[in-house]
Amino acid sequence: MSCRVESSFKMAKMAASMLEHGEDAFRKLFKFYKRRNPPPDFSEVIDFSKGSKHEKVFSTELSPAAVGENEARKAGLQPVREWKAFGLKGYPGFIFISNPFLPGSQQYWVKQCLKVYLQKPNVCNLDMHMTAAETENIWEKSTQLMRSKGSGKREPKTLLEKLRWVTLGYHYNWDTKMYSAEHHTPFPADLHSVSKHVAAACGFPSFTAEAGILNYYHSDSSLGIHVDESELDHTQPLLSFSFGQSAVFLLGGTKREDPATAMFMHSGDIMVMSGHSRLLYHAVPRIVPAPAAAPLPPCLLQGPERSAPEDSLVRRVKEEDWEVCTRYMRTSRVNMTVRQVLGLGQAFPSGETRIQTLSAFSKDSAEGGENINSKKRKSSSDGYGES
Ligand code: OGA
Ligand code: MN
Repeated sequence: MSCRVESSFKMAKMAASMLEHGEDAFRKLFKFYKRRNPPPDFSEVIDFSKGSKHEKVFSTELSPAAVGENEARKAGLQPVREWKAFGLKGYPGFIFISNPFLPGSQQYWVKQCLKVYLQKPNVCNLDMHMTAAETENIWEKSTQLMRSKGSGKREPKTLLEKLRWVTLGYHYNWDTKMYSAEHHTPFPADLHSVSKHVAAACGFPSFTAEAGILNYYHSDSSLGIHVDESELDHTQPLLSFSFGQSAVFLLGGTKREDPATAMFMHSGDIMVMSGHSRLLYHAVPRIVPAPAAAPLPPCLLQGPERSAPEDSLVRRVKEEDWEVCTRYMRTSRVNMTVRQVLGLGQAFPSGETRIQTLSAFSKDSAEGGENINSKKRKSSSDGYGES
């Protein structure tokens, strides 16, 4: 008996120490990939661009009939029958689409993220500590400063370089972790359209893009372990689009401490989290530096094969704009996540229910001293846990 007591005492001590040091499986992996010196071994990271060779990866069929070829082309996407889509064993509802973009169209989305979506009425991290006048014309102010910059190290950062996140549609409130009916601006029609096609191809024809969070990462950025649960309808998927530098993405379980699977997200890749995988913990521990000789992936540099049809949403990016974009993207990654917030016919709960929801959330997402996560995208700072 004393032995049992001792072992359960030992176990409790171990669990307590695990909590203290946060050395559960997910955090261990997060730290492993975040480590700078020496850099980690990436050989265990799943690379969907290499196909379904990995034992956990399988090819999956989407619904080509759900999206007309012309509609797909207008949104800068290849016909759905050409898409390379994969599932991951043990993660039902998780779909990885390996760069389904048409040549030249990734450039358009990058330009939208750097020049258009950061404009008012959308909200960005800079708004938290700057006046409206100061955050006006971020692109123009930044390009001006960029052009006048020499190679000196001590030069001030442009606003574009200080940009960490932008919210669209229902604007996510980082402090309350909620969306609200009051804080809403029109969702961009082009991003709505591409999202609708991706969701439809994945079996969600009624998906409506209502909220977007754009994340801007630099070589030392990471995104802490979290779950996206603030949306009120979890039957609809969460879509994630990545451009620029590759990242290591970790997909865990329904509990924060569950083990995780590491995978690369390359430029143009789309991830769909639905069903069982909609509410899984995930994180981005690392941006993977590109080789100095090829700082940008060919699929991002590629120009359009033919000029876009007259009615295309995706327009050719002007050369002078693309020059600024490439300079920025040589060391950066831009990720757009698109969410449906409300179910069909659903409304935001009344104030009283909302308070209850809030307390449930703050309990659920108790951060337990997680350094990176406690810093995660606070509205008042620039968000990522950078070291
Ligand atoms: C998010 C998110 C992942 C990424 O914004 O909620 O998980 O790949 N982003 O940047
Ligand atoms: Mn997320």
